[in-house]
Amino acid sequence: MTGIVLGIETSCDETGVGIVRCADDGTVTLLADEIASSVDEHARFGGVVPEVASRAHLEAMVPTVRRALRIAGLTPSDVDAVAVTAGPGLAGALLIGVAAAKAYAAAWDVPLFGVNHLTAHVAVDTLEHGPLPTALALLVSGGHSSLLEVSSLVEPLSPLGATVDDAAGEAFDKVARLLGLGFPGGPYIDRAARDGDPGSVRFPRGLTGPGDAPYDFSFSGLKTAVARHVEALVRDGISVPVADIAAAFQEAVVDVLTAKAIRAATDRGIDTLLIGGGVAANSRLRALAGQRCDAAGMRLRVPRPRLCTDNGAMVAALGAHLLAAGAPPSPLDIPADPSLSITTSLVGGSSSTTNRA
Ligand code: KG4
Ligand code: ZN
Repeated sequence: MTGIVLGIETSCDETGVGIVRCADDGTVTLLADEIASSVDEHARFGGVVPEVASRAHLEAMVPTVRRALRIAGLTPSDVDAVAVTAGPGLAGALLIGVAAAKAYAAAWDVPLFGVNHLTAHVAVDTLEHGPLPTALALLVSGGHSSLLEVSSLVEPLSPLGATVDDAAGEAFDKVARLLGLGFPGGPYIDRAARDGDPGSVRFPRGLTGPGDAPYDFSFSGLKTAVARHVEALVRDGISVPVADIAAAFQEAVVDVLTAKAIRAATDRGIDTLLIGGGVAANSRLRALAGQRCDAAGMRLRVPRPRLCTDNGAMVAALGAHLLAAGAPPSPLDIPADPSLSITTSLVGGSSSTTNRA
């Protein structure tokens, strides 16, 4: 089925509303991508405060939907389906989006698709690069870091490995904090690192020994190593070279991410690497992945940075693929599921692609 899909994202601190059009040939086109962020309200706490995020979603929801419709030049009667992030994420934040999506779907009398935030981070790439061939996906966000084999956006994703401790984005946020940079830390480290020397310190690369799980990640040892390094400098009265440390830390993260992703793809005979999630906005990750994919004869797909961090367009994109595939819509009593498994793309319904959570 073709049509217009409105997607709602509220899993963390961004109220995202995206609108896409799905054509007969399966092409999905972006019509609107509106975001209201509460990040400034969290910055002074150094992390997202769930209650503050929920309240901000509640206030931003209706105006953001209206803005997205206006920008797309559409009215509610043009919308053929509503998609929403059903999980994973912050419980109260998800609840606002799921409740709003149910209300819109009921009021507009259109199907509802409760989707997985992580699958949506993969699906968004089709807005920029078209239909997805079988790909090895490196999914790196504030809460998740995994390697997945993706053969279809409407089938359950099969994880090959994941972080055993901190997510990549979490490591960026924690190291930024200890370097006195802002929140969220990823973009600050990315910027600071441009003036730094990535070879100034060789920080540890977690789980890269011969006996280590080849597709799993570990970033907590790296974060501790950076903390010890900074403490030692401070103890010795040496001023902390923030740019150099940011660059050396970033290099350790992106070295491991790209090496493991390319190894996983090569091992499985997959020639396309897709990177998604907020950390995929990182300029050094994008550059190194490009170099290493070229060297390995692989194709790299990374959406533009704005589509890597949380947004409603990614949810609408996944909803459009589900609609086009004829997936059964979610019932209107689906819950928000803060710990929704990465293997569930669509919540509710009854086919093998779904899971009644
Ligand atoms: O996908 P996302 O927007 O939200 C979650 O689903 O978690 O990812 C947010 C994460 C944060 O940890 C943020 O610091 C990180 O993505 N991030 C970056 C960059 N932009 C955002 N990390 C490294 N470099 C960036 N340029
Ligand atoms: Zn995300």
